[in-house]
Amino acid sequence: MNLNRTRIIEILIGLLATQVIVFALAFYMVNEPQRVVNAQSDILEVQLDSAMTLYTENCAVCHGLNGEGIGANPALNNPALATMPFEEIVKVIARGRYATAMPAWSKEDGGPLSDYQIDELTALIQSGDWSATGDRVVNLGLAPLIPFTTEPDSALLENVGMLPDGIRLQAAITTYAESCVACHGADGLGTSIAPALNDPLAGEKPADELTRIITYGSAGTLMSGWSNQLSPEKVAEMVTLIQRWDEIPRGVIPAPDVPIPTTEESLALGANVYASNCSSCHGPEGQGTPRAPALNVKAFLTETNDQAIELIITGGVPGTAMPAWGDRMTASDIQAIVGFIRQWEPTAPEVAIPTRPGGGGPPWMRTNTTAPNSIEITAPQQQSPQATPQGQGKQPWVQPASSETAWWQTMDWRILLSVTALLSIIFTLILMGVNLLKKQN
Ligand code: HEC
Ligand code: HEC
Ligand code: HEC
Repeated sequence: MNLNRTRIIEILIGLLATQVIVFALAFYMVNEPQRVVNAQSDILEVQLDSAMTLYTENCAVCHGLNGEGIGANPALNNPALATMPFEEIVKVIARGRYATAMPAWSKEDGGPLSDYQIDELTALIQSGDWSATGDRVVNLGLAPLIPFTTEPDSALLENVGMLPDGIRLQAAITTYAESCVACHGADGLGTSIAPALNDPLAGEKPADELTRIITYGSAGTLMSGWSNQLSPEKVAEMVTLIQRWDEIPRGVIPAPDVPIPTTEESLALGANVYASNCSSCHGPEGQGTPRAPALNVKAFLTETNDQAIELIITGGVPGTAMPAWGDRMTASDIQAIVGFIRQWEPTAPEVAIPTRPGGGGPPWMRTNTTAPNSIEITAPQQQSPQATPQGQGKQPWVQPASSETAWWQTMDWRILLSVTALLSIIFTLILMGVNLLKKQN
């Protein structure tokens, strides 16, 4: 009997050793795939991060802030692309689509991107985070103008018709408003992504150079060739417009009126840049000082759209103390300030009381946010600087990550094996204990 007990204990010890090994193996297996996945996802994350910047600089202008597509340019956040073979998407980006506005991007085909960068962009299209991509585009100050096109001002367009050769200029302005304004800006003033065309420097270029750029594009830049969309006659009209822009009245090609989108980061940046560059003249709360007018007033904010404020800040007001900030700030800084200033609109007073330099007068005059005699006391609540970024929440395809997953759905067979092995070890230990106790009795 005693011998039998010893045998049982020996068997149990053997069993225990086996169970420990099974447990160790199962535990390793639980962790291994996670380790591999972690390493792979680190690489993917770096690639996706650099792809977001590539997308911002090269693609957002046509495919939109969040890959939603603009006008005739298709969406890239389309689920069909996520399941398309990787290589097919690489091919479209590398070679472009013949006879469409989609240019070839690979160095091999005259574009600016390496094969590696094209792979990164493809990974973004198939598995990237479009809402984070939209934030990147805004933070870098490259949010595209949507709508892509604009309507020429009809009264001013009629005046253009009275100029010599006016019919051709009118036609060119219409083409410009349809095809060029999104990049080259209202009235040809230029934007952060493309140079001004109303600039004498552009108009002084020889006609055949302008014709060549418009027809074939400028390799390695966003300027694609228009030979598929515009007949040689239409291209010649565009060249005439660029050469005679000084005769064209301001305002005939308005900017598409779209609010500049903001993110938490861009609002914080705007507050910062405003405080260090503008508040000395315009007041810390935009209430104005004797040196410069108030910006935090109803009339200014409701009558001036974001593009107009951006233009004023970029170009300054010649002949006044208002400098041209375009020379010393990036487009993203300027757009961030515009977003920051725009936040004042809901609470802006009708009349602002300028801050007195030197701090004279009653205390409210030095720190006032709203004029004390303002009628606008019932104005809407001040928006917090962390206001929800505009342009978000209207994209139905951005699914919130589901946090409602039952515990058993996340249960892996390897975890089950580990738990079973652990339980059987405990069970064996108890059996051994019982046996030893019995032996002593
Ligand atoms: C000048 C505008 C423009 C720019 C800039 C541009 N695209 Fe396109 N893209 C288009 C157009 C237009 C099409 C649709 C072509 C067609 O009709 O087949 C397109 C198609 C595509 C497609 C195929 C979509 C589909 O559903 O088949 C992909 C992928 C794509 N673009 C990626 C990019 C990437 C990546 C960039 C930046 C490196 C970029 N595009 C820049 C205009 C543009
Ligand atoms: C997707 C953005 C985009 C669109 C749309 C676009 N351009 Fe451009 N364009 C550019 C960029 C960027 C450059 C600068 C290229 C360079 O640096 O070589 C440029 C350069 C030019 C130039 C040369 C300017 C100079 O001073 O050298 C001309 C002319 C021009 N574009 C005309 C047009 C016309 C006309 C249209 C409409 C039919 C148009 N562009 C549409 C982005 C665009
Ligand atoms: C040296 C003083 C000074 C500084 C610094 C300054 N401004 Fe101005 N700003 C002015 C003056 C003066 C005017 C009025 C120009 C005029 O008479 O039209 C003005 C006008 C403006 C306007 C147009 C207001 C209107 O009612 O039409 C805007 C917008 C503006 N400034 C924004 C800014 C921003 C943003 C900054 C900082 C990046 C800035 N300014 C920095 C002096 C300044």
